[in-house]
Amino acid sequence: MKLLITGSSGQVGTELKQQLAGQDELLTPTRADLDLANASAVRAYLALHRPQAILNAAAYTAVDQAETEQEAAWALNAHLPELLARYCAINGAYLLHYSTDYVYPGTGSEPRQEDSQTGPLNHYGKSKLQGDFAVLAQCPQAVIFRTSWVYSAHGKNFRNTILRLAKEKTELSIVADQIGAPTPASLIAAISVQTLQRYQQGQPIAGGVYHLAPRSYCSWYDFAKIIVQQAEQQGQSLSLNASAIHPIPSSAYATPAKRPLNSRLSVDKLECALGIRLPEWQQLLASMTQ
Ligand SMILES: NC(=O)c1ccc[n+]([C@@H]2O[C@H](COP(=O)([O-])OP(=O)(O)OC[C@H]3O[C@@H](n4cnc5c(N)ncnc54)[C@H](OP(=O)(O)O)[C@@H]3O)[C@@H](O)[C@H]2O)c1
Repeated sequence: MKLLITGSSGQVGTELKQQLAGQDELLTPTRADLDLANASAVRAYLALHRPQAILNAAAYTAVDQAETEQEAAWALNAHLPELLARYCAINGAYLLHYSTDYVYPGTGSEPRQEDSQTGPLNHYGKSKLQGDFAVLAQCPQAVIFRTSWVYSAHGKNFRNTILRLAKEKTELSIVADQIGAPTPASLIAAISVQTLQRYQQGQPIAGGVYHLAPRSYCSWYDFAKIIVQQAEQQGQSLSLNASAIHPIPSSAYATPAKRPLNSRLSVDKLECALGIRLPEWQQLLASMTQ
């Protein structure tokens, strides 16, 4: 099967590329090969290569910058998914698309269900939600994985930032009132591969939105402490001790884009569709060696 992975240099895209490496034909254009914000270039690429499945891991993910670069965020997060979904619907191709907990308003303390009321708090979330609507309107068989707090060994993410700061600083203050589930890109890729295999075997899961995240939740403060404790246990040379990380409220850490306080995602629907049980976030972090 001819597979197209967009955003193959990103966190999720890199993991997808590695985990799908043995597939028949893998198309992994970089930004230099194909500017995904250029709709006519994307149409021409699809017409030339005619992929049979698309894993759309590309996105505009600079949450704060999206407040000012609204058009750029919209091009990648709303227009591109719509274009890919239309191609898939017309050509009978399969589409896996990725979305975010930031489509929800972050109120309350209960885990969100896939049909919970949306209400993004920032422009990034609005552009991603528009992408979700467009994908399902164009191609109802498409699968959308809404995930949260993505990290991997490479790339710009919270884990790597904390590891860098732990070598530079002796004290840190981290937000403790935003709750969610840190999700390794490797987990997202593994579930995507499983979902793709189901499609290839003629037993696809139903189209629609699925939450994809570990089973348990924490705050950014909890996450930071465990990251540093784990690095200490691995013998990394740090100037920061986990006990010198201090909890602060979101109100004490101003950012251009507002963040949801409650990013808990219920994963029951995905577990049921694939017949799996997702791991706890602590287990997944502990298994990271790099
Ligand atoms: N990161 C998170 O915490 C998080 C949380 C929830 C959901 N998600 C969702 O998960 C998915 C994957 O996120 P991620 O963290 O893997 O993203 P990422 O690491 O930021 O990667 C984004 C990818 O998109 C590519 N890209 C962006 N604009 C492009 C353009 N104009 N032309 C070509 N390529 C372009 C980037 O290429 P370059 O390398 O050239 O920039 C990169 O490969 C996204 O849908 C995101 O919304 C992420």
